[in-house]
Amino acid sequence: TKIDRIRNFSIIAHIDHGKSTLADRLIQRTGGLTDREMTHGQILDNMEIEQERGITIKAQTVRLTWNGYELNLMDTPGHVDFAYEVSRSLAACEGALLVVDAAQGVEAQTLANVYQSIEHDHEIVPVINKIDLPAADPEGVRQEIEEIIGLDASEAVLASAKSGIGIDDVLQAIVDKIPPPKGDRDKPLQAMLVDSWYDPYLGVVILVRVMDGAIRKGQQVKFMAAGTTHLIDRVGCFTPKRTDLPELGPGEIGFITAQIKEVSETRVGDTITDAKKPASAALPGFKEVQPVVFCGLFPVDAADFEKLRDSLYKLRLNDASFSFETESSAALGFGFRCGFLGLLHLEIIQERLTREYDLDLITTAPSVVYKMHLTHSKNEPAQTIELHNPADMPDPNRIERIEEPWIEATIYTPDEYLGAILKLCQDRRGIQKGLTYVGSGAHQRAQVKYELPLNEVVFDFYDRLKSISRGYASFDYEQIGYREGDLVKMSILVNEEPVDALSMITHRGTAEQRGRGMCERLKELIPRHLFKIPIQAAIGGKVIARETISAMRKDVTAKCYGGDATRKRKLLEKQKKGKAKMREYGNVSIPQEAFIAALRMG
Ligand code: GTP
Repeated sequence: TKIDRIRNFSIIAHIDHGKSTLADRLIQRTGGLTDREMTHGQILDNMEIEQERGITIKAQTVRLTWNGYELNLMDTPGHVDFAYEVSRSLAACEGALLVVDAAQGVEAQTLANVYQSIEHDHEIVPVINKIDLPAADPEGVRQEIEEIIGLDASEAVLASAKSGIGIDDVLQAIVDKIPPPKGDRDKPLQAMLVDSWYDPYLGVVILVRVMDGAIRKGQQVKFMAAGTTHLIDRVGCFTPKRTDLPELGPGEIGFITAQIKEVSETRVGDTITDAKKPASAALPGFKEVQPVVFCGLFPVDAADFEKLRDSLYKLRLNDASFSFETESSAALGFGFRCGFLGLLHLEIIQERLTREYDLDLITTAPSVVYKMHLTHSKNEPAQTIELHNPADMPDPNRIERIEEPWIEATIYTPDEYLGAILKLCQDRRGIQKGLTYVGSGAHQRAQVKYELPLNEVVFDFYDRLKSISRGYASFDYEQIGYREGDLVKMSILVNEEPVDALSMITHRGTAEQRGRGMCERLKELIPRHLFKIPIQAAIGGKVIARETISAMRKDVTAKCYGGDATRKRKLLEKQKKGKAKMREYGNVSIPQEAFIAALRMG
């Protein structure tokens, strides 16, 4: 395709504002699929889990052909954990459709993506969707787009992806408003690796955006950051059906395969060039993504260990951004220490393991990566180490100082929840950086910026935020580097024995509160024994919180007041079943549920 006939764009939208529905409509209108092929729900959201959660995880690009134009629609992951992948997708485009729900208006997640898109010099075409809804207020939303985002929305396209209204207008706006890509066919090949995934038939499939030159079948190419060379054996695009092509020219987006076995060999943001006639420099913006949140995953049934390992390997085939290595815990047995890009990423993997691989799992409290500055010891020099697991805490005497990662959070909320949200941030050691109001009238929202230690966010910040704002507040964050913190390792002791799976690193100021909370919960969760069980939280040798489970009489059914026979039987059955899942700890049996529940509420 001639370069001035190409348009590359993505769709920015807040969750549920209609991105997938609109994409489906565009595909349908441009004839990429027959009506019969369309019926299988949303096409771009491939995996079952994406459909159920409505979250797009893997970027997919569809080539639409319309009025002699090649329109490449790039589907970007919609969550903050995948920010870098999003940034590469954006770097592959010249413009974006901004889809805003005509009844909901602009929301925080949208804003973050819009600003990112603006940073990439994108032409942004506003689309006000769902105008069919009775509650639609296109004029209000148009104003909001102008006031909040500062975009000219006078020519915003009014559409209903669901009813098929305004679809041609959207296509025409893409052609008219979004500029064609720039690129030079005569220069050496420079193509950006935008995404990759594992296909059981083709091996690793790589999505590329060609900047200069062309990429074709049989070409020997070099991946500049990875330092590897490969022979291209297939080039093509998705319409969304896979279609082979002889080549991808400058400005084009499509896929290549090169007999690559593992996704981990391909790095998003890498530059692909001709091995014989290489470009003099790589494309800007390459970044190696690193997991930032770690936790342990253990099978509830120890016999599932191998199955868990196989499942993790399978998931990793398609997701090089999560890591895992074996870990053993006295309380939980053998499992894996896993690293994720963020909390949502963690949840997605955990859910897939449970759902697709049918595994019953225990997840230990998520932890961030700490930088430990250690003084020298008899055998080791002074050094800085990264700590991924509280259980590996070095000798406290050697710790000179500890640094923890911080984030800057942006929260949008209706005014009525502001007070509670400020308190939550304050309680989590937040430093307020700004408070402004955006929008007007019914659409007015407070925008709060806070710097927060990531450690205070990984436990239950998001859940708390959602519950105190009845779901109205939105949350977005970026990492802003490491800062020194007064951090300590808190151990939990059951009957005088430390339980490694429950230990955590926490700020000294909040340790006591956390410790007390954990002890109280465990008191509720651990069944009584025939002897008294102390539960303690301790820092070093110092106990900071304590609860005691009193001893009980042998007959568990006693507390059923002798009355209801069915209830008695049920209780006994439950106890029998519970026993199978108990861990003997010292001489205390802790039911698996107690760990799970205690960790959930961390
Ligand atoms: P994520 O994939 O979660 O980001 O959501 P999305 O933005 O892709 O939204 P999706 O297309 O899944 O639409 C969300 C809901 O809105 C679905 O129930 C759609 O049927 C509905 N929807 C989408 N477009 C319209 C529209 O124009 N009018 C109405 N009434 N509903 C719509």
